[in-house]
Parts: sequence; structure tokens; C-alpha cells
Amino acid sequence: MSTEDVSRADYWSAIYRANDAGWDKGRCSPPIARLLREGLVPEGGTIAVVGCGRGWEAVEAARLGYRVTAVDFAPEALEGLAVNARAAGVSVEPLLADVFDLGALRPKHFDGVLEHTCLCAVSPTRRAEYLAAMAATLEPGGVYFGLLYAHGRPGGPPFDLQEPEARALLRGFAVERLQVAQDSFDMRRGHELEVVARTAA
Ligand SMILES: C[S@@+](CC[C@H](N)C(=O)[O-])C[C@H]1O[C@@H](n2cnc3c(N)ncnc32)[C@H](O)[C@@H]1O
Repeated sequence: MSTEDVSRADYWSAIYRANDAGWDKGRCSPPIARLLREGLVPEGGTIAVVGCGRGWEAVEAARLGYRVTAVDFAPEALEGLAVNARAAGVSVEPLLADVFDLGALRPKHFDGVLEHTCLCAVSPTRRAEYLAAMAATLEPGGVYFGLLYAHGRPGGPPFDLQEPEARALLRGFAVERLQVAQDSFDMRRGHELEVVARTAA
């Protein structure tokens, strides 16, 4: 496998079809459930959940009354999202798209972009491009928030992203928080950075 393979939807589709999505814990990640309750996004506001997978975070956001668009380029991920949203009795807009196209597809549209191991899933060579797309799809003053994975191991995905590099990549945003989350799932505890960063108002 080459690092650039992760830019292709069929790379991820194959993982879902093989039922090998080891990142999927069958529920919303605790730090993200907490972040969603902080009121970072105005009540009833719009949130894009990027690289949503089977949508546990998207469903949690919809449960809290946000208007949620869940974005993934693997159709199998959105099939899982549909099942989970139905089971939870919530409505989530599925968007089958490459997250790099989000700025063009929905320019200045969302109050928030929610991230859980999507930046760390894309090729490390494309991280600046990725964050530019996130900034472009956010309203002025919109918030990019969620979890980055600083696991310290070579290879990937997920590709390691340490705090100094994350801070440098986020230089176009006002970074309000970039710190180790204390309440991650056991196997990730101490290795996830929670991020809250805003575009200029
Ligand atoms: C490691 S998984 C994380 C899934 C979910 N956020 C979670 O934590 O359960 C990465 C997800 O991002 C999606 N993804 C990766 N690159 C993408 C891209 N360029 N555009 C859209 N989705 C992408 C994959 O299909 C996969 O569902």
C-alpha cells in the first residue's frame, strides 16, 4: 500500500466490506460527546461531520438538535450511518463526497465542522489542503472541533499528528484549545488531542 492510496474511496470501502473498521467502537467517542455539549456551535446550528464513518458522532450531534451533514466518500460508511440514524430516530443529511471538495460544494455554509480521525486518515502530504477545505466550508467565525490522533507510531492510517505540527497547520485559525483529551476510549487515552479552532469572524 502507498500512503496516497488513502485518497481513494475504494481503499476505505474495502475496509468496511471486510468488516475491519477497527476504529469503530459502536458509539460516540466520549470527548466528542462532551465537546458537543459545550455549546461551541449555536443551538440548532449546522454541523458537518467529516469522514463520518458509520456516523456515531453525527447521530449524537443530531440528538442534541443540531442540523447535521455527515460526509464520507465510502458508500458503505453512509449505509452504516443510515442504519444508526434510523435506530436513533434522528435525521442526518448524508453527503457522499470527498472532504477536499467540501469548500467548493458548501462554501461558507456550516457553523461547525466536527472531526474524529479524518485529518489523521488523509495523506500527511495533504494536511494543509485539508484544513483549507475545512476553513472554506465554515461560516466566518465557525468552529473546527474534535479529536486528532497523536499516537507517536510510524505508518498509518491513522497517521500520527503531534501537537506542534497541528498548531502549525492551524495557523490560519484562532486556536482556542489544543490539548490531550482526558476521557478518550481506553486504547486511545493520552494520545488524542482535542481541538477547538475558529475561522476569522
Ligand atoms: C479512520 S475512519 C474514522 C471514521 C469516524 N470518524 C470514526 O471515528 O468512527 C476515516 C473515515 O474517513 C473517510 N475518509 C477518508 N478520507 C476521506 C476523504 N478524502 N473524503 C471523505 N471521506 C474520507 C473514510 O472513508 C472513513 O470512513
